[in-house]
Amino acid sequence: MRPARALVRGAVAALALSTAFAGAAEPGPRAYGDRPSVAQLTALGRAMFNDPGLSAGGRLACASCHDPATAFGPNAHTPSPFADADPGHAGTRAIPSLRYAQFAGRFTEHTVDDEETHGADGGPTGGFTWDGRADTAREQARIPLFDAREMGNADEAALARRVAAAPYAARFRQAFSPPGCDVFGDAKQVVAWVALAFEVYEQAPEFAPFDSRYDRFLAGRATLSPAERRGLALYRDAAKGNCETCHPSRRSSSGRAPLFTDAGFIAVGAPRRADLPPLDPSLRSPVASRARGAEVDLGLCRAGRTGLADDPSFCGRFRTPTLRNVALRASFFHNGSVHSLRDAVAFYATRDTDPARWYPRRADGGVHAYDDLPPGSVPYVDREVPFEPLPDGRPRLDDAEIDDLVAFLRTLTDADAAPAAAR
Ligand code: HEC
Ligand code: HEC
Repeated sequence: MRPARALVRGAVAALALSTAFAGAAEPGPRAYGDRPSVAQLTALGRAMFNDPGLSAGGRLACASCHDPATAFGPNAHTPSPFADADPGHAGTRAIPSLRYAQFAGRFTEHTVDDEETHGADGGPTGGFTWDGRADTAREQARIPLFDAREMGNADEAALARRVAAAPYAARFRQAFSPPGCDVFGDAKQVVAWVALAFEVYEQAPEFAPFDSRYDRFLAGRATLSPAERRGLALYRDAAKGNCETCHPSRRSSSGRAPLFTDAGFIAVGAPRRADLPPLDPSLRSPVASRARGAEVDLGLCRAGRTGLADDPSFCGRFRTPTLRNVALRASFFHNGSVHSLRDAVAFYATRDTDPARWYPRRADGGVHAYDDLPPGSVPYVDREVPFEPLPDGRPRLDDAEIDDLVAFLRTLTDADAAPAAAR
């Protein structure tokens, strides 16, 4: 785990520096007295996370979408992608669980790791959000705070005013004001501390309990049923589920608990959401899709990264999510287009053996496979096992095997969320 202490120090130094170089009109470098402790940052982060008062409409908190009772993912009443009575709020992506998100690491285009990739280039990994466009949780927190479709703060001053009016404002002032100054006099600093408090809070123990039944099984303190054990074997079998290659289930050689994601970016070709109009058939290249805005989600190639922009081989790739707590979810894949865990697993087995089950028909009667991708990106859809059919054309996994895999995935629910999973 990242040393939270060092991180706070680094961030404080960065804030002090940014003040020092801010120009002649600014006062000189501020002498910081006591630095805020991790405990203070965590407590304020937690209070802000649950505070709808930080949103422009006064109704939406981080916790409205990331419910602490369901592993900081959507609960049974939260549509995912998000939607409420306000059409301006309609989201385009499924709400992820924030548990274990802290381990994603920074985005890198080329991953070389002795243990994972044996020295070969494993391609892009890491970063926050489905397309990895934020390197740190600090940067990520600014997205919902200022996005009009989410918490809708018009600018830093607007957010700073909301923090100054919050029930915890006095604690915030006390924790973050430099000696002799009031932090609320500087909206930039307020927002920097807000973002840092979220980052530190998201590393609190409740974001990484590692106490699912599977964790207890790995520790020799629980057993798996025969179906769950069969599911685990299929999960790891490179000729059957092959889930292990992208969603690792084994401890690392240093003994670290498995995260059930390698944070890699893959195009699985998830179907287009049924409530959207079909993708424009004249779409030749990702560039042509720009005008269509949110109706086309191209993932990694459009994450704002130099070198990846508009390269069709990166379009439609999304970051592999953890499968921890996956049984709590009601919509699956980056666009939330699949609505049961069993279907999400069945998709892997039958996407290419029975495409009509997943994709709509074109006017000419043919199946429009990979219908959420521009044609130029279709050649880059992943086709390895478990997608690759058996030599005789049958799926890699039959119905009973899919059931076993689902039984295994249900062992990955953290202990505190198990009641929600049983609903
Ligand atoms: C309206 C619903 C909504 C609200 C409110 C919301 N989020 Fe999110 N959150 C999302 C969605 C959707 C994503 C995926 C975004 C993407 O891929 O671009 C996300 C992604 C994230 C991630 C990245 C997780 C990962 O695995 O990469 C973090 C961290 C996060 N949110 C924290 C927060 C914080 C902190 C707040 C409050 C300041 C917040 N969210 C408010 C819906 C929401
Ligand atoms: C080649 C890498 C790869 C393999 C192999 C793989 N996955 Fe995935 N998995 C992904 C990626 C990437 C996504 C997200 C794709 C998207 O949203 O567009 C995903 C998403 C999922 C989801 C949806 C989770 C959510 O929160 O929405 C489930 C469930 C899942 N995988 C289960 C499995 C199972 C079970 C197997 C084995 C049968 C498997 N995966 C094999 C890469 C992989």
